[in-house]
Amino acid sequence: MLLLETELISVSHLTMEFEQDSTPLKVLDDLSFDMHRGDTVAIVGPSGSGKTTLLQLLAALEQPTGGTITLNKQALSELSPDQLADFRRDNMGIVFQSFHLIDSLTALANAALPLDIAGQSMAVARAKAMLEQVGLGHRMHHYPQQLSGGEQQRVAIARALVHQPKLILADEPTGNLDEKTGKRVADLLFDLHAQSQSTLVLVTHDMTLAKRCKRHFWLESGKLRLVDNSALLT
Ligand SMILES: Nc1ncnc2c1ncn2[C@@H]1O[C@H](COP(=O)(O)OP(=O)(O)OP(=O)(O)O)[C@@H](O)[C@H]1O
Ligand SMILES: [Mg+2]
Repeated sequence: MLLLETELISVSHLTMEFEQDSTPLKVLDDLSFDMHRGDTVAIVGPSGSGKTTLLQLLAALEQPTGGTITLNKQALSELSPDQLADFRRDNMGIVFQSFHLIDSLTALANAALPLDIAGQSMAVARAKAMLEQVGLGHRMHHYPQQLSGGEQQRVAIARALVHQPKLILADEPTGNLDEKTGKRVADLLFDLHAQSQSTLVLVTHDMTLAKRCKRHFWLESGKLRLVDNSALLT
């Protein structure tokens, strides 16, 4: 089994270009930054600026067209698909913007999935506890289509956190939630981050949430710019 601790994630000259109607579209243009274990990083910026694309690259779900991402000096691009799958399973929790729940599984089975795949006992008990924490104790046996958007989002969050990952990538984790539920979910995210000393990368349009991170990057026109707290409008 491959176990890379996420002590240091280095993004170096990262570029992502899509081909659209034979016109190249450069979404990320030569980005470089480091994240250390325990960091909390918010990525903010206009719709369509490439935030989700950047998270997909950090999760190694897409290959960049240029540059590298290294974990403790190990380039992600040099890992085999199997090694990457192992790494994601053991170390990463990903909250997708569009949830990516499995329709044929109940909320509970979805939330237990990372532990099930890893063959861990206590998968169901821990998934139950996590669903309770996101306020879904009363919806464990519902299927995704029987849940509201915000409920599906909370199942996705429970699933992303249930195995206490060292790297949490969250794309608009509170985007579909009312203020009170959003705060509850954000509290959970930051509590778990603090407990496990994980690295948290958060994409959000919610500046109150962004401000809870130690560092904030503004992504626009392919470029990433470090901004301080006071520059984030609420
Ligand atoms: N597979 C693809 N092929 C072509 N273009 C793509 C592809 N994926 C993303 N894009 C384009 O890249 C740009 C950035 O998309 P992305 O989803 O990363 O934006 P975003 O910052 O997450 O936006 P939002 O805040 O709306 O979620 C968009 O203009 C999108 O059309
Ligand atoms: Mg997005």
